Amino acid sequence: MFRIVRYFLFMMPAETAHYVTLNVLSFALKIPLLSHFIRALYRNPSPHPVTFAGIRFPNRAGLAAGFDKNARYLHVMKALGFGHVEIGTVTPKPQPGNDKPRLFRLIEDEAIINRMGFNNDGVEVIRERLKNRPGGLIVGGNIGKNKITPNELAVEDYKTCFSELYMYVDYFTVNVSSPNTPGLRELQDKGPLTAILTALLELRAGFVKNGMPKLPVLLKIAPDLEPGQLDDIVALTKETGIDGIVATNTTISREGLKTDEHTVARIGAGGLSGKPVLERSTEVLKYLNMKFEGKMPLIGVGGIHSQADAMQKLENGAGLLQLYTGFIYEGPGLVKKIS
Ligand SMILES: Cc1cc2nc3c(=O)[nH]c(=O)nc-3n(C[C@H](O)[C@H](O)[C@H](O)COP(=O)(O)O)c2cc1C
Repeated sequence: MFRIVRYFLFMMPAETAHYVTLNVLSFALKIPLLSHFIRALYRNPSPHPVTFAGIRFPNRAGLAAGFDKNARYLHVMKALGFGHVEIGTVTPKPQPGNDKPRLFRLIEDEAIINRMGFNNDGVEVIRERLKNRPGGLIVGGNIGKNKITPNELAVEDYKTCFSELYMYVDYFTVNVSSPNTPGLRELQDKGPLTAILTALLELRAGFVKNGMPKLPVLLKIAPDLEPGQLDDIVALTKETGIDGIVATNTTISREGLKTDEHTVARIGAGGLSGKPVLERSTEVLKYLNMKFEGKMPLIGVGGIHSQADAMQKLENGAGLLQLYTGFIYEGPGLVKKIS
C-alpha cells in the first residue's frame, strides 16, 4: 500500500510531496473514523518504553530533526507511532532558508541531498505552537543560529532559543553540524563549542534553581569528523557535563553513490542522508561508544532503513534511534517495526 502512495508522491517535487503528505495526514486525523483507522494501523501493541538521559520515552523510534521543523505536525507523528520528535532546527528569528529547489531524491541510492538552510518560523512562533503539543510524545528542541548571525555571536542565538523553549520541550539538541548554514560546522571546534555548551548549561542551572526540571542537553555532530575531532568532542562532553550526543547529521561526502556523477554534480551542494550515510554514521557512533565506555547516552541516526539497520545502531551503543530518509523511502511501517 505504501509503495503505491510513494509512487505518486515521488512524481512530485520532493518538498511539495513532503507538505502534501503531512497536510493530507493532518486532515485525515480530523475525521474520526479515518483517525481511528490510522492510529490502529500504526499503534504498536507491545511498545518498549525506555529511559534515556533520565527521561522516559514511549519507545526507541524518533523523528529526526528537520522533518517537522516548525512543530506543526506533532499529532501526526504521534499517530504514526513515533515516541519522540526532534523539532527544528529552530533559530531565534524566522528565516526562509535557501532558494528552491533545495531538496533532491537520489532514488537509486535511497538517499536525499538537501540544502534547506534552516527554513523555520522562528523561536517565538514555534514556542506558541508548542503550548498545544500533544501529550504522550517526547519533544526535543533542536536549536541553531540564524544565517546572518556571525559565528562570534552565535552563542547568543543558541541562548535565545534555549531560554524561549525551555518550558515547552523535554530535551535540547545543540546543532552545530548542518552543512547548509555557512560556517556553522566550524562551531564544532573546541573553543566555540565549549563556549556555547557552557553558556547553555549555565542557563539551565538558573532554570533548575527556579524549580524547573533539569532538561538534558545533547550535541548533534557531523559524520565527517576525523578521529582527532571526535576525541575533542569526547573530552569536551566530559568537561562540560552535557548529557549525550546525537550521531549523526548529514554528510558532505558523495563517495560510493550509484546515482551517476553528472546528476550528483548538477544537484550541487548539500547534506547527503539515507542509505549511503549508514556505515559512516554507525562508525562514528561505535567510536564514541568505545571512547565513553558505553556510559554516554547516544542517539543513533543516519541511514536507518530497516530493522537490521536499527539493530546495528543499538549494538553499537545507541540508546535511542531517529529516522528521516528511511521514513520517506519505507513509510510509517518502519516506525512500527523499530518501536
Ligand atoms: C531535508 C532534511 C532536512 C534536515 N534538516 C535538519 C535540521 O534542520 N537540523 C538537523 O539537526 N538535522 C537536519 N537534518 C538531518 C537529519 O535530522 C538526520 O540527522 C540525517 O538526515 C541522517 O538521518 P537519515 O539518514 O535517517 O536521514 C535534515 C535532513 C534532511 C534530509
